[in-house]
Order: sequence, then C-alpha cells, then structure tokens
Amino acid sequence: MEPIGVLQGRKILLGVTGGIAAYKICTLASHLTQAGAEVDVVMTEAATRFVAPLTFQALTGRPVYTDLWSTPGPGLPTHIAHVGLAHSADLVVIAPATANTLAKLTHGLADNLLTTLALAATCPMLAVPAMDAGMWSNPATQANVETLRARGVHFAGPTRGRMASGLEGEGRMIEPEEILGHIRLILGRNGPLAGRRVVVTAGPTREFLDPVRFLSNPSSGCQGFALAQAALDRGARVTLIAGPTHLPTPVGVERVDVVSAQEMHDAVLEAVAEADVLLMAAAVADYRPEKTAPQKIKKGERDLTLHLTRTPDVLAAVAEQRTETGHPRVVVGFAAESQDLIENARAKMEAKGMDLIVANDVTAPDAGFGVETNQVVILDPQGGAQELPLMSKSAVAEAVLDRVVDLLSTATSSRRPAQKTTETQRAQRSPK
Ligand SMILES: Cc1cc2nc3c(=O)[nH]c(=O)nc-3n(C[C@H](O)[C@H](O)[C@H](O)COP(=O)(O)O)c2cc1C
Repeated sequence: MEPIGVLQGRKILLGVTGGIAAYKICTLASHLTQAGAEVDVVMTEAATRFVAPLTFQALTGRPVYTDLWSTPGPGLPTHIAHVGLAHSADLVVIAPATANTLAKLTHGLADNLLTTLALAATCPMLAVPAMDAGMWSNPATQANVETLRARGVHFAGPTRGRMASGLEGEGRMIEPEEILGHIRLILGRNGPLAGRRVVVTAGPTREFLDPVRFLSNPSSGCQGFALAQAALDRGARVTLIAGPTHLPTPVGVERVDVVSAQEMHDAVLEAVAEADVLLMAAAVADYRPEKTAPQKIKKGERDLTLHLTRTPDVLAAVAEQRTETGHPRVVVGFAAESQDLIENARAKMEAKGMDLIVANDVTAPDAGFGVETNQVVILDPQGGAQELPLMSKSAVAEAVLDRVVDLLSTATSSRRPAQKTTETQRAQRSPK
C-alpha cells in the first residue's frame, strides 16, 4: 500500500465491535496506516474476544484503547480519553458495527469507551455493519439504521454473501478495500474539486470482426481508474467511462461501460455536456473493420484481407462541442507513443485543443500498457514540460489532478498567456 494523499496525517478513530468480521479490520488498520493516516483503535470488550488489542497495536504503531476508565496516552487534546479521542478525530469508523452497538448509538447510550466517544464526537461517522442476515433484516436494526442515517451517519454495506455461520444472506461486511474507498470519499468531499464534474475515460475498446473476434490493445485501464480515484479524493463528482476491464469500480464513481470506439464517443459526448473536466486516458481504437460478419468467419484455404475504416475521433468531437457549449472547461489527453514522443504528443495536443497532454513512451520498460507503473511527461500549450520519474500510476494521477486543480483555479478561459515552466516549478510539482 503506497501513500494516499487524501489520508496523509488524517486522524481516523477506528471503533471495532464484537463481530467475527473484526479479523478483516486488521487489514484495514494496516492499509490506513501504510497509506499515511493516524489510526487510533478503540475496541469493545466483545471485540477483544475476536482479535487481541496487541494485533491492532502492532499494525498501527499506536496504543489501542479498550477501557473507559483508563488514562490516555500522550498526544490527545485532553486527559479524559473519550473526550480527547472524540475531539481529535477527523473521522470515526465503526467496523465491524454490531447490531448491539448500532442500537446503543441510536439511543445515545454511553456505556463503554466507544459508545461514549461516539456520542461526544462532532466529526463525520461511518458505520460498516456486519451481522447475521436475520439480525440485519430485523425491523429493530432497520429502524436503528434509518434513525442513524437521518442523523447524518454514513453507512457502507452490508452485502449479500456467505456468513461465518455458513448461511447465505444480506449482512456480510464489505471488504476492507471497499471500506477504504468509502473513507476516501468522506475525507475528500470538501477537497479542491468539490462541486466539479469530472469525466474520465479508461481502458481499451474492442472492434469486432465477427461475433467472437475483435481488434483491441493491451490497455488495462489502470491509469484511467487511478485518475478517477484521484479526482474523487479531491471531492469531484466523477463519471468513469470504461472499456472492457476487470478493475473494481472506485467507490463513489458513476461508471458507464462501453465496448467500441463508437460507444465511447457517444458516452463521452453525453457525459461532458455539463462537465468541468475531461481526462481522456482510454486507448480508443482509431480503426475498425469496415464490416462485422454476423456469423463467425470460417477458416478457409485462402488469405483473408481486412478492410479497416476510421472510427469517430472522440477528442475532435469534444473540441467542437466545447466551442459551442464551453464544456468541458479543461481537457487532458494522453499520448501513448512508440517514437518521437514529445513531438507527436505536442502535435496531438495542438490539433485537438487540449489544455494538457500526458505523454508516455509505451516502449520504455515498466511504463505504459499492462504494468503498474508509468513514466510520463506532462506538456502544456505554453511550452511547459513537467518530466516525472518512473512512478506508480496512482502517483501519476495525483500529479495530473494537481495540474487540473491549478488550471481550474487560474484559468478564466481554456487558454492562458504563454508561460514557460521553470525548473523550480517543475521541481515543486514533482511528487517527493
Ligand atoms: C461467535 C460470535 C460471532 C458474533 N458475530 C456477530 C456479528 O457478526 N454481528 C453482530 O452484530 N453480533 C455478533 N455477535 C454478537 C455480539 O458479539 C454481541 O451482541 C455483543 O454483545 C456485541 O458487543 P459490542 O457491540 O459491544 O461489541 C457474535 C457473537 C458470537 C459469540
């Protein structure tokens, strides 16, 4: 788990209650800590029967609190543990949240450290229920959840699936990766892109020759999905238009699945009509077979010639629509090149009227298609070139979104006066 910008230095109070899913929260505590959050774990007495406090202490590197009557460690704003913990938190996460603790929270009971501090806390709260399907569907639990929701408590899950009891049903806790997505969404919602609409495209397209064969490319969608997550982390409303990929949907995006370049074109034009930003990271096919055979093409004795025709140019269509509507205000393209990277990328940026282009040499080792890392240069129409070192696609996404935030806050129109990127600016923009 690499550092996550929206979690850096954020104080998360992780309340663990007495459900079997408590073991999965060890993974969450570890992820949050590795990503840069300060995680204070508070366990109910029942929770300590499932996981030892020492496990969380070892994973977070911080003391674990279990007792309302104990003296807190240093670093809290007051010497009374429940008040200090409640007031120092940016977010209280209760995971797993038992039926019992949800009932106590609904009625304002304060009979252990977790319920007492939950009552004192003024920061947002996220509850992640986990329980037997009968307990979850019970009208008492449902009424409690409704009351808590109405008071502003966020809920994530539960989902349907197999329970520890061996029974199937709704009540299973969502997985730690998904809980992390909900935490990012809550902590990022007042970020610099709050109120902005961002459209991201990701992945490859497929152009079918017949019902079972297609032309495509090795794009995994990783870079586009990382951009969508980075935009969410800054508070944007994000529409992610994705070609075929197996990647999980970032929590909070509106996802539109497409297959062909034509579908990508149509979905983008519809989505950008009211968008502030378009991040065009999809690897859209430039050509498709002129005809798609209705039945599988049979193997014959002779060679086969494929006639290809142009697919619609998505960015050219966006540029045209933008001239009429003013949306999107910022357009960022990607150029995957195998030769003359900078020249080709600049030419593409100018031809399509983009505000930034992210150029990557797909022949470089560990960069481009199908790998976790990327090495890019971000070019702007003013002649600037921000060279980034080899880094994860998430880190590239962070750098691109920082540039987008700058563009939205400073640009009154899509074009700004010519300005060369200085060495100092470049160094400041590069992630440490
Ligand atoms: C093996 C076992 C598993 C349990 N799992 C859950 C569970 O997943 N969800 C739940 O709401 N209660 C579960 N319970 C019941 C709670 O532990 C019990 O209601 C307890 O009082 C909760 O206390 P707390 O809310 O203070 O942590 C389980 C009990 C046992 C013995």
